[in-house]
Amino acid sequence: EIPIPVIAIDGPSASGKGTVAARVAAALGWHYLDSGALYRLTALAARGRGIALDDEFAVSRVAAQLDATFLEGMILLEGEDATELIRDERVGEGASQVAVLPAVRTALLQRQRDFAKLPGLVADGRDMGSVVFPDASLKVFLTAGAAERASRRYKQLIAKGESVNIARILEDIEQRDARDKARTVAPLQQLPDARLLDTTELSIDIAVQTVLDWWKSASRNAFA
Ligand code: CDP
Ligand code: CDP
Repeated sequence: EIPIPVIAIDGPSASGKGTVAARVAAALGWHYLDSGALYRLTALAARGRGIALDDEFAVSRVAAQLDATFLEGMILLEGEDATELIRDERVGEGASQVAVLPAVRTALLQRQRDFAKLPGLVADGRDMGSVVFPDASLKVFLTAGAAERASRRYKQLIAKGESVNIARILEDIEQRDARDKARTVAPLQQLPDARLLDTTELSIDIAVQTVLDWWKSASRNAFA
């Protein structure tokens, strides 16, 4: 059995994980898993069925039966384009609420692992290196200061034509980080075997190049 190389990129909200992970995957010609999208889709589907987001049993059934399709640059929920809808800040908030429920995390575990296919996978989220792919070939903890992350999210929302308040975004980000770090199952943490990539003052290009360089030296060592 050929081992499938995995690059796990974990970190807090709006640090640039998704952007960097997708670009690293494209550069290597690998598959990409946006694990946060699965929590977002679960929250959206549960809400659509009128299920309370703290109803662990009902939400975990939604997660287990999630009818989601990941296409190149497009995500379908029950056959409908949900790409834009799941980026809504309220959906992100809902995702972080359902993400604290252990049964929901369990229901999504195998589905995430199924993304690992040759020639390789780049996965981003909160527990890629700790729970989903503990044997990942390279683990990265990608972060940036909270004010910088709020400003990145602000620019993203402005570009979408949404009217937003930066103080409110910072508050939301800090609240989401606190919940992600404090939960008992699969909390957001920097693992001892993860490399720290603080992008507060780094461009996307340099962040992508840094991960590619780390992967090059990690794979060289593995086959030396
Ligand atoms: O996936 P995550 O929530 O961590 O962040 P993202 O949605 O990939 O990135 C948030 C925004 O920050 C995007 O608009 C990026 O273009 C921008 N950004 C970045 O990702 N990295 C930088 N070094 C600078 C900006
Ligand atoms: O874009 P942003 O980083 O804000 O969020 P995301 O990566 O799309 O994830 C949305 C929420 O899902 C996060 O706030 C986490 O609570 C949860 N999540 C998680 O618990 N585990 C993951 N592997 C990915 C996301």
